Amino acid sequence: MGKYDEIYRRSIEDPNGFWAEAAEDVQWVKKWDKVLDDSNKPFYRWFVGGELNTCYNALDYHVENGRADQVALIYDSPVTGTIKKFTYREMLDLVSRFAGVLAGKGVGKGDTVIIYMPMIPEAVIAMLACARLGAIHSVVFGGFAANELAIRINDAKPKLIISASCGLEGLTKVIDYKPLLDKAIELAESKPEGCIIKQRPQVKAALGANDYDWDELMAAATPAGCTTVAATDPLYILYTSGTTGIPKGVVRDNGGHAVALKWSMRYIYNVEPGDVYWAASDVGWVVGHSYIVYAPLFLGCTTILYEGKPVGTPDAGAFWRVIAEHGVKVLFTAPTAFRAIKKEDPNGEFFKKYDLSNFQALFLAGERLDPDTYHWASDLLHKPVIDHWWQTETGWPIAANCMGIEQFPIKPGSPTKAVPGYNVKILDNDGNELPPDTEGIVTIKLPLPPGCLPTLWQQDERFVESYVSMFPGYYFTGDGGYIDSEGYIYIMGRVDDVINVAGHRLSTGGMEEIVATHPDVAECAVLGVADNLKGQVPVGFFVLKAGVTKDPDEIAAELVQMVRDQIGAVACFRQAIAVKRLPKTRSGKILRGTMRKIADNEEYRIPSTIDDPTILDEITEAVEKLGYGKARS
Ligand code: COA
Ligand code: AMP
Repeated sequence: MGKYDEIYRRSIEDPNGFWAEAAEDVQWVKKWDKVLDDSNKPFYRWFVGGELNTCYNALDYHVENGRADQVALIYDSPVTGTIKKFTYREMLDLVSRFAGVLAGKGVGKGDTVIIYMPMIPEAVIAMLACARLGAIHSVVFGGFAANELAIRINDAKPKLIISASCGLEGLTKVIDYKPLLDKAIELAESKPEGCIIKQRPQVKAALGANDYDWDELMAAATPAGCTTVAATDPLYILYTSGTTGIPKGVVRDNGGHAVALKWSMRYIYNVEPGDVYWAASDVGWVVGHSYIVYAPLFLGCTTILYEGKPVGTPDAGAFWRVIAEHGVKVLFTAPTAFRAIKKEDPNGEFFKKYDLSNFQALFLAGERLDPDTYHWASDLLHKPVIDHWWQTETGWPIAANCMGIEQFPIKPGSPTKAVPGYNVKILDNDGNELPPDTEGIVTIKLPLPPGCLPTLWQQDERFVESYVSMFPGYYFTGDGGYIDSEGYIYIMGRVDDVINVAGHRLSTGGMEEIVATHPDVAECAVLGVADNLKGQVPVGFFVLKAGVTKDPDEIAAELVQMVRDQIGAVACFRQAIAVKRLPKTRSGKILRGTMRKIADNEEYRIPSTIDDPTILDEITEAVEKLGYGKARS
């Protein structure tokens, strides 16, 4: 039996023993009483009775154990022309003082704090300071509009909000954050007690009566120590798109998270303490939480916080420059970033300018890695290009080629095999396990391993309904796919209304809810249509109310603006088209799957349940008008 098979089998057959051993690598104030508590199914808890502090594990422990002068974080910001390095000692000093600031404002264990920030060191400092106090942070991605922020404020009910005066998008665009923040607070029913704002040199935000200046508070701060929390206490809430406009508040606990993430660094990514690890993502997404902030710091690595894009900051050589300049061993990003580089520099001219001899492997996730992009990256780098599959809910990879255990031959299009701890099963609609090579719904047999969501924030019922009631005893991932006879997993796409646009997770259902509020729209459908650069982009189809005489193109432009205003530019909702009718089943269900196939120019069968097949001709015409379907280049 190979090394992977042995480790994997033990993780499934003896999860208590397996994870107890992994947990020895974490610093505990008090060891757990029970590794896995399954007394309240389907709510499983890990390391019950254990006590620790996440920030201690990320910073203090390393300062006390010989890494004080090692660089913990490199802030590399081509958009501001800055490279700044922070040692573990410096990070600990800043985080302890900011924790003192928060404590001075009354933030303590169990309180929630929203962090709405661009990719600046203060975002990481704020997250770790919350963890230090046992407060629960909720980071909101900077590309979301005020309305999305307001929805999260209402759900998380933060005591404080931490933000910055602006974000910088590429070399030219400045996003003024304060007006967005003020509007969100105005829209929200739950009001925070105050906001702490980091003033950036590019924009000076006007501060109101309940706003405080980050730098002024820090100048007068006294450091705060670590508050001990239970392993099962929440570390953070991260909102993610579901099938409706109301996002799901994924909860991460402290103990299981520390154990799983530290384990993943060694066994999946094959890095050692002291290595430079770079996740080119954003702190607003799960990749940013897990692999910019927590996991690299748990292991004692140097992590990179990159404020820039793969292209245009200033060119398609930006990633190679960062890897060469900082001696990056592992890069983790989304396939879309590589498609963007490939588009600008197909022959890798920029790549040739840099020395990447320290570079070990590229990991890609967030959306399907199409074989073309895989081959391009692999031929260019001559290093392993590892597709791995996971989601906000799990917080760390479900399927991967575990480079620290045993490297398997790569099959392009597959993220390789289930990661130890995850018992992945393919089910049919009735919950029967399917044989190899048969496509169905991808599920994970319960219990999920440590680090995965124990529930949704204050919504146990929605957790059950969304994830574990469809197939009792299994977690529903929302993805469709199959496993081949050698155990390789293939993820073929979501089976719900979630789409991934440029690695950003969005809800088409949420966009439909917005489009439907237009006074001239009778009904609508928003689909994720395949896109060469962004993987998928949303496209809207709407039916006008009877008697509306306004120009449909004008209405389409209004719909585009509405989605941009309410969700944010990141939704990338740029196309909508009026149609006379939408194709439906006889029971009235919109045939979104068939519409998507027409738009993607895929073979489709006319569903037997369709009410009126002639509508499909009109849809075909509409998608071609937008440049999709047979009109795709
Ligand atoms: N704050 C404010 N606005 C943001 C934003 C942020 N943090 N992130 C994106 N936006 C805006 C963009 O400026 C753009 O606005 P526009 O419509 O006015 O042009 C819009 O949202 C769409 O952004 P995006 O889809 O990212 O397109 P892009 O053309 O700016 O960049 C890529 C394309 C591929 C280079 C970029 O999407 C990318 O680097 N993706 C990788 C994503 C990633 O790392 N995901 C994490 C998973 S690992
Ligand atoms: P997020 O929660 O934003 O990480 O998005 C999770 C979803 O992205 C998954 O449910 C998949 O649909 C998709 N996804 C992530 N990684 C991969 C991958 N490697 N291959 C295919 N799909 C992926």
